[in-house]
Order: sequence, then structure tokens, then C-alpha cells
Amino acid sequence: MARSLTSLASAAPAQVSRGGTADEELRAGLMAAVPTISPKYLYDSLGSSLFTAITLLPEYYPTRCEAEILREQASRIAYHVGRVESLIDLGAGDCVKAERLFPVLQPTRYVPIDISADYLNDAVARLRHAHPGLEIRALGRDFSHTFDLPESVPAENRLFFYPGSSIGNLSPDEALALLQRIHALCPGGGLLVGVDRVKPRGVLEPAYDDALGLTGAFNLNMLRHVNTLLGSNFRVEDWRHEARYNETESRVEMHLRAAADVLVKWPGGERHFARGQSIHTECSYKYTVDGFADLLRRAGFGKIQHWSDRRDWFSVFSARA
Ligand code: AVI
Repeated sequence: MARSLTSLASAAPAQVSRGGTADEELRAGLMAAVPTISPKYLYDSLGSSLFTAITLLPEYYPTRCEAEILREQASRIAYHVGRVESLIDLGAGDCVKAERLFPVLQPTRYVPIDISADYLNDAVARLRHAHPGLEIRALGRDFSHTFDLPESVPAENRLFFYPGSSIGNLSPDEALALLQRIHALCPGGGLLVGVDRVKPRGVLEPAYDDALGLTGAFNLNMLRHVNTLLGSNFRVEDWRHEARYNETESRVEMHLRAAADVLVKWPGGERHFARGQSIHTECSYKYTVDGFADLLRRAGFGKIQHWSDRRDWFSVFSARA
């Protein structure tokens, strides 16, 4: 993936080519007893654009529900959050969600962080134009395992913003570990996080398997991205998109299922997939209000407040560190 990071504060270390972390992680996932590819590989530049298109689909409700909450509860949220010096946007993408909060939160500094550095770069160029008075320190990096912040982002009054229920793409243990890391990075500050709620299968499954097939394209495009990163020879036409709600685990799972017997090769390795065998590509966990508040408390957060949309399908939580 090409990176032009001139306006970013530091280059992304994780999604680099042959021999790097991505390489080892991909090989290990493909060779595992339950073959997996981490959902972060959904987001090359085409994948990021496909995700943006998904958010416009009638079936994909989370983005609209969250926007409704942030719009209608903005002043209550701002009151609960208090003074914000640095607004730190995790998985910022096109930065549009955070930008809507600028007038109410009035941060001194905006710190967007995203693994897809190219996408972030374009968004930052636009933001600098639209908000010339705002200090912007963009970071192109993968914050899923570990991250710290440069000294240029003072420790006081940090607000972490993690919208879109991206936290649902982590297992509850991983989510807890991330929340603990955030907690350690914002003493006296806080977190604003979007969380998708448990709801009927009839709403959840179409949201992840839409009639136009955009989510299928999003899932399948991951194979092309993996080919670029790993030098593998996945053929998109050999695989089918699948999404199903696992009620026991409270998560929607995305899989890629082999439509025929296929032998996938990459430098130094190969794996045979029998027809019908699948690769697990994403989990999207759904929470109850009590379940997520409990996770926040276990991570050390207090003063927990939440707001929901009209249908109670989605919640935005604010918590203080
Ligand atoms: C980014 N993330 C919160 C999305 C979700 O709903 O889990 C990714 C997605 N996967 C399929 N559709 C959207």
C-alpha cells in the first residue's frame, strides 16, 4: 500500500510489506486450525471506500443511529465530557464524525489516528483548509495492539473518541485491554465511544449481507489486499461472502467460504481449502448497556453515561478516567 505521509506525524509501522508484522500475522492466520484473517486487512484504499459506501446502505443502520445520537444529544454530551484540549480520534477514516463535534467540544487540538494512512492524509488536507485555527497532529498507525502518543499531545484534558462501534470488532478481552490502555493515557480526561446494541437477527444479518452486495465486495476485497501484502494467489471468484449472527457469542461473524477446492500459495507456504471450508474474517460484537458499562468499569473508568437513538439500537457512552 503506497503511503504519502508528508502531513502525518509518523509513518504506519504495521501494514508494511514482505517480512514485516503483517506478513507473519497473515501466514499464522491462514495456517491456523480455524483459518482467520484479521479484519484490519479489510481496509486498503478500496476497502475503506467500500466501507464508506456501506454506511449509506439502508440495511446498515449503525452509522445513522450514531449520527442521530451525536446530533440530538450534542449539548448533553459536551456537558458530560467537559473541557477538551486534545480530541484523539481512533480509526478516524475521513474524520467527518469528529468534525461534527468540533463546534460543541471546541478542542484546541485534533489528533486523528488511522491504519489507512493514505485515506487519513486526504482527510487531513481537507480539514486543514476547513479549520485553519485548529492544531492537527495526524498519526498513521495501528493502535489495535499498542500505542502511545507523542509529547506534542499534552496529557491534560485528552478526550478519546472511538465511534462507529469499531470496538465491536475486538473480542471482549481485546476490548477490555484497549480500554485499559486508553484509560492509562487520559488521566483526568475521558472517552466517548459508540457501541452497537444486541438486537434481533432479522435486523443484524441484512446489515452485514446487504441486497446490493457491497458488504460481500468489502469482504472479498480483503483477499486482493492480502495478495498484495503477502504475495499470495487468492482468486476472488473462488470465494463467497457469508454473514451470520452468533447469538451465543453476541456477535455477527463474517466468513469467506471456498466455492471449490482451492490451493492458495504464498512465498514459503501454501494451504489447501476444501470446497465449503471458510476463513473467518470479522466479528462484530453487540452489547447490552449493562454489559458495556461493566467493561468500562473493569477498565477503570467512572462517571459513565450513555445516550441512545430512538429505537435503542445503538448507544454512545461517555466515561471519565
Ligand atoms: C467498522 N466496523 C464497526 C464495521 C462493523 O459494523 O462491524 C465493519 C463492517 N463490517 C461489515 N460491515 C461493516
